[in-house]
Amino acid sequence: AIPVVLDVDTGVDDACALLLAALHPGLDLRAVTCVGGNAPVDDVVANTLTVLDAAGRPDVVVARGADRPLLEEAVDARHVHGADGMGDLDWPRSTRSPDPRHAVEVLRDVLRAAAAEVAHGADTRVTLVPLAPLTNIALLLRTYPDVAPGIREVVFMGGAAHVGNATASAEFNVFHDPEAAAVVLDACADLGIPVTMYGLDVFYEPRVGLPEADRLVAAGGRGAAELAGRLVRFQAERFGSDSATIGDAGAVCAVLDPAGVQREKLPVRVELAGTWSRGRTIVDRRDWTGDLSHDPHGQAPATIDVCLEVDADRYTRLWLETVEGGGR
Ligand code: BDR
Ligand code: CA
Repeated sequence: AIPVVLDVDTGVDDACALLLAALHPGLDLRAVTCVGGNAPVDDVVANTLTVLDAAGRPDVVVARGADRPLLEEAVDARHVHGADGMGDLDWPRSTRSPDPRHAVEVLRDVLRAAAAEVAHGADTRVTLVPLAPLTNIALLLRTYPDVAPGIREVVFMGGAAHVGNATASAEFNVFHDPEAAAVVLDACADLGIPVTMYGLDVFYEPRVGLPEADRLVAAGGRGAAELAGRLVRFQAERFGSDSATIGDAGAVCAVLDPAGVQREKLPVRVELAGTWSRGRTIVDRRDWTGDLSHDPHGQAPATIDVCLEVDADRYTRLWLETVEGGGR
């Protein structure tokens, strides 16, 4: 199984991603770290514990991280994700508490342990899957860069080559903490950590319809399948649609089934200024980008894998089969 850590702002679609990561036998979920984003961080922690309980995975370490972006005030997205950040489903809340360590310390400890195993010849490097503003990951990589040998790659949901959602220019996770996103791209380039951006170019495409959601809900028993179905229903209703995206769960699919997305290695910068463009990921698709000697900024951007197309049905199937199997 692939060792993974998810960094989340649960979040309706983060919940969909957590269910997949907690239930799929191809993943070894080593910890989940929480950050303020879709909802304030304390709600994110409560939601995350609740999802892991429904998935029958109370063994997974959950830690509370940054409650605000590096520079600006937190602006949540409860208008999209509900007052509790997870669809206001009236679902029994977890009674568990998070790990006493800060999220950055949990990331440090898990990744150092992986690095130590690697030093002894095992290939147990961890795939880091941030599905939220990148605040925790920026703090981690600047504070403890020695964790790099424990990281296989970073596959993050955020950004876009084309359009935004939080603004016309910018995707929510990057818009919420642009400095953190810029730090993560910069630090990964410095430390030699490969990065994949699973952004809005693919994010909305893997979708689940209401009939499938109803089938999941019918599994009942307050298990993973019922929760999954109710999350899909909430999202579809909120957007007045007959289907909903699995959202962040698609990035977890990209770890499990990398061939389901088509990626291109492209230079990416994060816009930190700009009146209407702050938080935009500037993806350089000019055909001469190999020659950066003409770059007027005189500063090389990070070159990362950008997901440009997705086999949506394949990822929807992967998600549905996994969460249905997890119904009790
Ligand atoms: C991202 O922002 C949040 O609303 C979702 O959870 C996802 O991570 C999409 O822009
Ligand atoms: Ca998210």
